[in-house]
Amino acid sequence: MDKDRVILSLNDIPKAWYNIAPDLPEQLPPPLNPGTGKPLGPADLAPIFPMALIEQEMSQQRWIDIPDEVLDVYKIYRPTPLKRAVRLEKALKTNCRIYYKDESVSPAGSHKLNTAIAQAYYNKKEGVKRIATETGAGQWGSALSFACNILGLKCTVYMVKASYYQKPYRKSLMRVWGAEIFPSPTTKTNSGRQALADDPETPGSLGIAISEAVEDAATHDDTKYSLGSVLNHVLTHQSVIGLETKKQLEMIGEKPDTMIACVGGGSNFAGFAFPFVPDKLKGKDIKFIAVEPTACPTLTKGEYLYDFGDTGKLTPLVKMYTLGHSFVPAGIHAGGLRYHGMAPEVSLLAKRKIIEARAYSQNPVFEAAVMWARTEGFLPAPETSHAIRCVIDEAKKNDGKCIVFNYSGHGHFDLSAYDAYLDGKLEDYEHPEEKIKEAIKKIPEIGNA
Ligand SMILES: Cc1ncc(COP(=O)(O)O)c(C=O)c1O
Repeated sequence: MDKDRVILSLNDIPKAWYNIAPDLPEQLPPPLNPGTGKPLGPADLAPIFPMALIEQEMSQQRWIDIPDEVLDVYKIYRPTPLKRAVRLEKALKTNCRIYYKDESVSPAGSHKLNTAIAQAYYNKKEGVKRIATETGAGQWGSALSFACNILGLKCTVYMVKASYYQKPYRKSLMRVWGAEIFPSPTTKTNSGRQALADDPETPGSLGIAISEAVEDAATHDDTKYSLGSVLNHVLTHQSVIGLETKKQLEMIGEKPDTMIACVGGGSNFAGFAFPFVPDKLKGKDIKFIAVEPTACPTLTKGEYLYDFGDTGKLTPLVKMYTLGHSFVPAGIHAGGLRYHGMAPEVSLLAKRKIIEARAYSQNPVFEAAVMWARTEGFLPAPETSHAIRCVIDEAKKNDGKCIVFNYSGHGHFDLSAYDAYLDGKLEDYEHPEEKIKEAIKKIPEIGNA
């Protein structure tokens, strides 16, 4: 057994997803209908999601079988390797052991495919012809484009305007896989037109793009909506990451002391960490760290409240850490981390202090990314580089810990951001407290009284 690179066989791909819902320290507060203030039922979600995913969203079943058709597509890139970052360890002169689960090896270049394939499969099974979605960095949009293409569905992507222009080649990749892409806000939807009327120069936000995609799905009979993060069923699909990691660590006799991942909506963090949470609840000493940008400090500066998932107030109200649905973050390069909310399951664990959070600004994040590229060789996504910054800081403590992190994606389409960093043009941005307070005031009272 090579301890520096742990490779599983095709047979080791998990056969069931892990759903953390029954293992949470308390029941998740239910999503609320913003009109009535009452908990949502499956019928409320039926216009935008297929029934199988609605059932998973509300499921209390710990294990959910992965359909053979989904496993078949997973086999294109799963199981993913667990590797030891020996060269980084040497450069840091640390006595910590650093391992990373490499989700960048998927065709779209990130963990997002783990749920894209599952969601496209259940939509197809229920006769849906087209899926509408939003994308921040373009990672999610390309993952869903790939999944729709392979399963025979059409795909429409509303891409946050700032990223659309920062990352033109993500758009090319989506087109190769047959999707249509629009820079959001567009003039195609009421939500888009409203956002443009409010600010014609807006860089867009995930909140606005979600409103556009939800509206598209709700107004077309053959179309459903798909979200790449935040929701319970998305986090459940991502559990293949942590389940494989667990097996790989056991194979080399390692036990994680610290587990680190970046958070936008929380899906790669959850997929990686949740299968280990029951161990912590039973008394194992594991530190979980979720890493976010200071420009979008949802867990470190947001409040735990019921809020909308989108800017246009079309989604249900969910209890989560939020910076307010009207929050529009600065156009930082980690587009996938620019979301005002956080997965309710991740939020509950943060509230109960089972996981902790840390925030970093762009320059120290890119400094870590370049150090990684110059030691380990691979080019990380800016989102992933938030986790790497934290890993380096933890490893510098030199306390002999076993640090494991999720390498959520590669940065091959983020080279303009690397250029900006190397040219000294990246600005560090701290989202001001007054702006957070202002946006929090706009959150409705329903559920928060
Ligand atoms: C490479 C990568 N990592 C992380 C994220 C953050 O999303 P999440 O918190 O859902 O994992 C994104 C989002 O687009 C991403 O592209």
